[in-house]
Amino acid sequence: MSQNVIEVRDLAKHYPPDIKAVDGISFSIPSGTVFSLLGPNGAGKTTTVEMLEGLRNPTRGEALILGVDASTEYQRIRKRVGVLPQNFEPFDMLRPPEAVLYWARLYDLGTSVKDVERLLDTVGLSERKKSLSKKLSGGEKRKLGIAMSLVNQPELLFLDEPTTGLDAKARRDLWRLIEDIKRGGTTVLLTTHYLDEAEKLSDDVAVMHRGKVLVRGSPEELISKHGKMTVVVLAGAGADGLREVTRRGISASMEDNGDVVVPVADPSEMRMVLAKLAAIELNVKSMYTRRQTLEDVFLSLVGTKMDEGVLAE
Ligand SMILES: Nc1ncnc2c1ncn2[C@@H]1O[C@H](COP(=O)(O)OP(=O)(O)O)[C@@H](O)[C@H]1O
Ligand SMILES: [Mg+2]
Repeated sequence: MSQNVIEVRDLAKHYPPDIKAVDGISFSIPSGTVFSLLGPNGAGKTTTVEMLEGLRNPTRGEALILGVDASTEYQRIRKRVGVLPQNFEPFDMLRPPEAVLYWARLYDLGTSVKDVERLLDTVGLSERKKSLSKKLSGGEKRKLGIAMSLVNQPELLFLDEPTTGLDAKARRDLWRLIEDIKRGGTTVLLTTHYLDEAEKLSDDVAVMHRGKVLVRGSPEELISKHGKMTVVVLAGAGADGLREVTRRGISASMEDNGDVVVPVADPSEMRMVLAKLAAIELNVKSMYTRRQTLEDVFLSLVGTKMDEGVLAE
């Protein structure tokens, strides 16, 4: 088998008359890694994933999954792949063990009650075995979906926006679960519009926008290549602070919370920037330096921020 679990070359999906849902993307995913397609709503993430799952035929290009062509030979590898579709909802009237068993039957697997218990334990649903699925919380439903997708012990797992709409605690729970799955050796392709999630979980990230991959690399690579390495934060400096700083020729911006942020491209400039800032009479709560995040990378690439997958005007 080739080293790469997924090989995508110039993959495109166009819809008439002129929708380019996916517009010529290429990437590869080595075995045992977590890869994120990161982008706003409408970027083309689900269309990409569904082509990789053999569900949509590409207009152009090819996708090799576990060494076979996804659009023509997916049946051959179906049992080696797990899928959590976007907006997954389990059947209301099944309890978690019943839902997992039902799924196992669809795969013709000889899954035992013990296997099911082990899976529910893996995803942290052991305590909820007796609840109807409709009574589960949003996070618990996703966990159940992941348990179902793991029923065939897949080598490759597709998770399409597994944490969208969940609260912070449920998201963190799922992050831990995804890390556990990776530790078990499964390759994971994740889609998300959460920058912190992509940064935390991924070995590699492809930032997608309007059907194209803008950049690809590890979070660290992307931050050092496309962001300024460090910023100085003038907490609470507000619009007055921003005016004072920019008046002296220092480039800066203000965040929603009123913090003024000064990017420092070259670490050797840091002392000079700090000295300049120290000379300004500023009303600040505190002043500190922070390494940039994928959020800054996204802002510099796309030009706007993203909130719950929606780009700011
Ligand atoms: N069957 C379809 N027919 C026409 N346009 C589609 C179809 N499916 C998706 N699209 C469009 O393709 C673009 C990408 O959609 P999608 O892959 O769902 O993005 P994402 O998952 O990143 O939110 C969107 O503009 C969407 O409206
Ligand atoms: Mg989607």
